[in-house]
Amino acid sequence: METNITRHPSHITRDHRHRLNMHHSCVLWLTGLSGSGKSTLAYALEKALYHASCRSYVLDGDNIRHGLNQDLGFHPEDRKENIRRIAEVAKLFADAGMIAVTAFISPYRADREMARSIVGEGDFIEIYVKCSLSECERRDPKGLYQKARAGEITQFTGISAPYEPPERPELVIESDRYSVSESVDLILNLLSSRTKLS
Ligand code: PPS
Repeated sequence: METNITRHPSHITRDHRHRLNMHHSCVLWLTGLSGSGKSTLAYALEKALYHASCRSYVLDGDNIRHGLNQDLGFHPEDRKENIRRIAEVAKLFADAGMIAVTAFISPYRADREMARSIVGEGDFIEIYVKCSLSECERRDPKGLYQKARAGEITQFTGISAPYEPPERPELVIESDRYSVSESVDLILNLLSSRTKLS
C-alpha cells in the first residue's frame, strides 16, 4: 500500500521539542478490565502532569470510539484495528513531545505487543491496572456487566470475551488496593526515573 509515498523530514527534532517542553515524551499505555479504573486514573494523572508543567493528553476508549474509531465494534479484529490506530496516534503525540496516556481495555497480548512495536520499545510504558473481575463487576459503573450477564451485550471482556493480563508490564497498579492519588504517585515516580521529568 506504500507505493509512491515518500516521508518528509521535519526541521524540528524530537530533542528540540523535549528541550522546549523541559521533559521527555512517552506513551503510558494503561490496560485493564472495564471498570478497573483506567479512565479515572488516566485523567487524574493528566491533571497531576499538568500541574507539574508537563504536556500530556489522554486517549480514552469510550471517547475515541465516539469519533476516530466509531466504525469499530468489539470483535477481535475490530479491537486489533482499534489498538493499531490508537498506537499510531499515541506515537504522533510522543513525537510531538507530549506524554500520551492511553486508557483502553486492550485485552489481547498480541495487540499490546503490536502497539509497543508501533510506538517503539523505549517510549512504550505498559501499566496494568489490575482489579479482580468480581470487584469490577461489583463496581459496574455503567451497568455493562449486568447487561453482559443478561446476554444483552455480547463479547463483553471478562464475561464472554477474554482478557489476557500483561506478563511483563513496566508497572502494575492494584486499583482495589491503592487510592487514585497513590496510584498517580506510583506512575509519576516511574516516569521521573525513566524520563527525567524536569
Ligand atoms: S478494546 O477492547 O481495547 O478495543 O476496548 P476499548 O476501546 O477500551 O473500549 C472499551 C469501552 O467500551 C465499552 N464497551 C465494551 N467493553 C468491552 N467489551 C464490550 N463488548 C463492550 N461494549 C461496550 C465499555 O464502556 C468500555 O469502557 P471501559 O472504560 O473500559 O469500561
